[in-house]
Amino acid sequence: MSFRLQPSPPARPNRCQLFGPGSRPAIFEKMAASAADVINLDLEDSVAPSDKDSARANIIQAIGDIDWGTKTLSVRINGLDTPYWYRDVVGLLEQASDRLDQIMIPKVGNAGDIYAVDALVTAIEAAKGRTKPITFEVIIESAAGIAHVEEIAAASPRMAAMSLGAADFAASMGMATTGIGGTQEDYYMIRDGQKHWSDPWHWAQAAIVAACRTHGVLPVDGPFGDFSDDDGFVAQAKRSATLGMVGKWAIHPKQVALANEVFTPSEAAVAEAREILAAMEEAKAKGEGATVYKGRLVDIASIKQAEVIVKQSEMIAGH
Ligand code: COA
Ligand code: MG
Repeated sequence: MSFRLQPSPPARPNRCQLFGPGSRPAIFEKMAASAADVINLDLEDSVAPSDKDSARANIIQAIGDIDWGTKTLSVRINGLDTPYWYRDVVGLLEQASDRLDQIMIPKVGNAGDIYAVDALVTAIEAAKGRTKPITFEVIIESAAGIAHVEEIAAASPRMAAMSLGAADFAASMGMATTGIGGTQEDYYMIRDGQKHWSDPWHWAQAAIVAACRTHGVLPVDGPFGDFSDDDGFVAQAKRSATLGMVGKWAIHPKQVALANEVFTPSEAAVAEAREILAAMEEAKAKGEGATVYKGRLVDIASIKQAEVIVKQSEMIAGH
């Protein structure tokens, strides 16, 4: 292993990020009352251009007025290719209360995008005497974003989380789909005359997880558009969790419980992980580096795998 240890990501639950348009303040209280770990108030693509100013004002007001409990409170600003983003940053940092935890930067293409927002945020924090540093989360949703994913993960000490945004990603890549995540009808292989569907999002997710784990950032799966398809959401979320992602977006409140269920290690998984740790303790006491658990090999690497599950479970329970 490299002598440089892998940094830990922020120790906070991030199983579900619930989105809501800033132009729809009537749902803010409902979002605050939800079981989502992260709230994303949106100024970007769910808000029409004519509503950008009023949505920004709604959000600034609500950050201070609503009791958001212990949730991570994040606002998605507009992209750096728009005329809105600087006003979003200046408005939030100058006027919103310090309950604001995080800014989500969409459509990032390289580390320079993060640098630009970081410079503006840092200057306003200093000017206003804000003592709680704002963290950043970003969306990888373009060809440039995935091509530069590692430099983006490493771009600032403010970097806390990174999501895959399937819809814009598909458009930027020229993918032949209008679906937002999930199974794609034409992405299949044939074996013995039978279709077997594969996962077109897999490689981008794996690239995001690797970049995030290298730099201590939380990897998150983005939206699943068809909110009438619970089974499809759960299948997508389970694949993401298997790959190392810690949570998923909800674009409708009914998706929150589904995400929480998938991204909370089950009692059975935690019990098995503890048994593996106990089996390895016994092996160690006998001077052995490997042993047999339920008919399969477990060794020193198994300790690390089991610890991932136990630590995640303890972190969620303790929060
Ligand atoms: N957060 C919290 N509550 C929400 C909500 C949200 N994002 N969206 C809807 N609700 C509430 C509704 O107000 C309604 O509450 P009620 O039972 O008290 O009346 C209930 O949940 C059921 O809502 P429903 O009628 O099924 O949905 P809708 O037609 O009002 O809204 C969407 C559907 C998809 C337009 C809406 O959920 C939404 O705007 N989602 C977020 C979109 C977004 O932010 N996209 C950007 C990221 S991709
Ligand atoms: Mg997008």
